[in-house]
Amino acid sequence: MGPRAKTKAAIEFGDFQTPLGLAGKVCATLARYGTKPSTIVEPTCGEGSFLIAALDAFPSACRVLGFERNGLYIDRARSAVEHRGWSKRVQILQADFFDTDWASLLTVLPEPLLILGNPPWVTNAQLGTIGSDNLPAKSNFQNHAGFDAITGKSNFDIAEWMLIKLLEAIETRQATLGMLCKTSVARKVLLHAWKHGMRLSDSAVYRIDAAKCFDVAADACLLVCRFHSQSGLPECPVYAQLGDTQSQSVIGYQDGRLVADVKTYNRLKHLRGAELYRWRSGIKHDCGKVMEFVREGARYRNGLGELIDLEETCLYPMLKSSDLASLEVGSVPQRWMLVTQRSIGEETEGIAAVAPKTWRYLLSHAEYLDRRASSVYRKRARFCVFGVGDYSFAPWKVAISGLYKKLQFRVLGPIRERPVVLDDTCYFVPCQCAEESELLFSLLASETAREFFNSLIFWDAKRPITADVLRQLDLRRLASEYGSGEAMRRFVAEGAGRCGRGQRELFDPEELGVITRKE
Ligand SMILES: C[S@@+](CC[C@H](N)C(=O)[O-])C[C@H]1O[C@@H](n2cnc3c(N)ncnc32)[C@H](O)[C@@H]1O
Repeated sequence: MGPRAKTKAAIEFGDFQTPLGLAGKVCATLARYGTKPSTIVEPTCGEGSFLIAALDAFPSACRVLGFERNGLYIDRARSAVEHRGWSKRVQILQADFFDTDWASLLTVLPEPLLILGNPPWVTNAQLGTIGSDNLPAKSNFQNHAGFDAITGKSNFDIAEWMLIKLLEAIETRQATLGMLCKTSVARKVLLHAWKHGMRLSDSAVYRIDAAKCFDVAADACLLVCRFHSQSGLPECPVYAQLGDTQSQSVIGYQDGRLVADVKTYNRLKHLRGAELYRWRSGIKHDCGKVMEFVREGARYRNGLGELIDLEETCLYPMLKSSDLASLEVGSVPQRWMLVTQRSIGEETEGIAAVAPKTWRYLLSHAEYLDRRASSVYRKRARFCVFGVGDYSFAPWKVAISGLYKKLQFRVLGPIRERPVVLDDTCYFVPCQCAEESELLFSLLASETAREFFNSLIFWDAKRPITADVLRQLDLRRLASEYGSGEAMRRFVAEGAGRCGRGQRELFDPEELGVITRKE
C-alpha cells in the first residue's frame, strides 16, 4: 500500500486519521456483540474519531483513555471531546506506544475492556528507507532472520507488532479488541493468537473499502478479537462489509497452518501430503538488461538495445509470468535467457572455452552484473544466477505464474531441442515427457485441485500463489481419486529422464510452440 503524496512525518507515523463516520460504523458493529465496556482505550488515538464515536456508542463506559504521540493531535482530540461536554469521562495522554507497558496499564482498569482504534499503517522497511525509529526496540520480530532477512520476508507491519502486544495484554481479561488494519495484518495477528494458544473466544473480520475511506490501495478490515472465559474454535468469519451478519467465508487455523476456507479444507484435507513432484521457482538473475534478449535473425538484442552475436550454448527460450498468462497454445517465446550455470555453485569460467563470444559479452557487461545487490550472488562465481538446477532444464514443465491472482496452469514443451526456462516470478514442476506433463496438468487443473488450492489461498494477499501452497497437494493421492494412480506410479518409478520414450522424442527438433496446454 502506498500513501499518496504523504509527508515524511505522515509516512513515519503511518498517519491515516479515521473519518468520524467510519469510526461510528465500527462502533455500531462492535455494539452488536452486546459489548458493554466499562473502560475504553484508544492506544494511538490521533485526532480522536474513535474516542468520540465510542463515547456515543457505549454510554456504559465510565473511563475512556486515549494515547497518542503527536501533541497537535492530542490538542485536537481534547477539544473535540470538550466540545461535546465529555471531558470528565475522558483522559487523553501523550505517550509513545513502544514505551508503554500495556499489560500493567490495563491491569488496573475496570472490565469489560474495549480496545479500539486504527494503529499506524507503515512497515519496518518503509521506516528503514526514511531512517525512522518509530519501531519496537527489538525488531527481529516473529523470528524473521537468516534467509527470511535476505529475501525481505523480515518486512512486517508495525500494526502487526502493536496488535499482538495488545492481545497479549488483554488475553486474560474480559476484553474486546476492535481495530482497523490491513487484512494481511489481521490474518497474521489471528495466526499468532491461534498458534500461541491465546484464550481467544471468538473473532471476526469485516472488510472495509480502504480506497474510499483512506485513499489507500490496500485490502483493509476491522479485526475483532474477543476474550471471555473460554477459548473458542480457531475459526474466524470474514464479512464483506461492516454490519453484515452473513459471512463470505470462514478462515481458520487447521493442521498448523492458516486456511482460507475451513469447510472446504476439511472436506479435502486428505489430499494434503507428501510433495511427490517438487515445485520449483524459475531462474533469478536480477539483471534483465544484460541476461535477457529478443532474437533478431541470428543475433540477440539485449535490454540495453545492443545487438549481440552469441553462441546458443547458454541461451534458452524463456517465459515470464506475463507470458504464462497471455501466450496462446503453439506460440513461440520471444525472449531468451542467458543461463551461466547448470547448478548452484558451478564455476562460470568454463564458458570461455565452450562459448567464447558469450564469455566476452559477460566480461564487457560485468559492471551491471557485479553490482547486483542481492546477497544470493555474494561470494559466488562471477556472473552466477540463482534458483538453477537440473530441474531448470527439464524438457517439459507444468508452470504457473506466482504474480497473477489466478489458478492457471500451463504445459510447456521444448523448442528446437532447448527446454524453456522460466524467470523467478513463476513456479513449475519439472517433467521428462509430454505424457507426464499432460497427466500433471490434468490433475492440477481439475476441479478438486482447484477447490483444494482455493481453500488455502488468500486471494487478497500480495502474492497469493506460493510454492508453499502448491506443495500442499499430494498429487499421488489426487491421481488415485481420478483413476490415474497407476500412470502416476509408473512415472515416479521410472524417474527423471525415463518415460518409456527415446531422447529424440523428448526433444523433437520439429516441435514448435512452447505452450502446449492451457486452461
Ligand atoms: C492510522 S493513524 C490513526 C489515528 C486514529 N487512531 C484514528 O483512527 O483516527 C495512526 C496514529 O498513530 C499515531 N502514532 C504513530 N506512531 C505512534 C507511536 N509510536 N506511539 C503513539 N502513537 C503513534 C499517529 O500519530 C497517528 O495519529
